[in-house]
Amino acid sequence: MGGRPIDQYKDVETLSEGSKRLHVLVFANEKGGTGKSTTAVHTAIALASKGARVACFDLDHRQRTMGRYLDNRGATAKRMGKPLPMPVYDTHDGESMAYFSEALDKLGENADFLVIDTPGRDDKFARIAVTNADTLVTPMNDSFVDFDLIGQVDPDTFKVVRPSFYSELIWESRKRRAKADGETIDWVVLRNRMQHIEARNMKRVSEAIDQLSKRVGFRVISGLSERVIYRELFPQGLTMLDSRDFGEMGLAHVAARQELREMMAGLALPEVTMPLFA
Ligand SMILES: Nc1ncnc2c1ncn2[C@@H]1O[C@H](COP(=O)(O)OP(=O)(O)OP(=O)(O)O)[C@@H](O)[C@H]1O
Ligand SMILES: [Mg+2]
Repeated sequence: MGGRPIDQYKDVETLSEGSKRLHVLVFANEKGGTGKSTTAVHTAIALASKGARVACFDLDHRQRTMGRYLDNRGATAKRMGKPLPMPVYDTHDGESMAYFSEALDKLGENADFLVIDTPGRDDKFARIAVTNADTLVTPMNDSFVDFDLIGQVDPDTFKVVRPSFYSELIWESRKRRAKADGETIDWVVLRNRMQHIEARNMKRVSEAIDQLSKRVGFRVISGLSERVIYRELFPQGLTMLDSRDFGEMGLAHVAARQELREMMAGLALPEVTMPLFA
């Protein structure tokens, strides 16, 4: 990437330009609380655990969930006197285009993967990030409330009536990207916080997502189930990938590791061909 500022309304510069190996992952959903930060951090740590060079950029300067998670992780490593696989990271100030551009340059310089977390609201910088994504991950809960953002369903049949504004926005981003450098954005809808007790609702949402995926052009993958462990490890900045070093690994951890491994496989990132966390 050169020194020109990135501007979504003009020519989009790709973040991966200059460093062919950099793969940009953006976690975005304008709906709040769908699991962007949780899945972004887990993805980043999973990649770092595998030896990839990972950089993280948190665009949610108000909540700073990703930044705080990694701060906590750094503090834990220090406290325990044990090194942990650790991405480099930065948080945007939410305002400056110059800072945004410079931070991306710097973070992308020596990284294989750049993981960008975005706020759960419309945000100018998040839109630019989305346009520059190689992989765009939209976490969604199994709920028609979450689904409404990407598609509307008939109240009686639950069949998809039309794509919603967020699908249109992504469509626009893809067109802009194709025009800028001919690259495509792999849009992945990730189902998060799945609860198997809600089988009926899950099936309906699942059918609606499948219908819409063909119409709008995204892939659907399984993400994380609803598990307390995903919330509990935040203060230490750990993931269950670290649990071998940091405590007892019960059955729930084993299952959680397995679903994380499946989520990573579903993302189908470049060069992640070896089995993770073997
Ligand atoms: N699979 C899961 N199991 C249990 N809790 C989860 C799971 N995924 C996320 N959570 C919890 O749900 C809440 C929202 O998750 P998270 O902060 O990752 O969402 P977000 O999309 O980043 O939210 P925001 O839009 O506010 O940035 C958090 O309390 C988080 O710990
Ligand atoms: Mg968040």
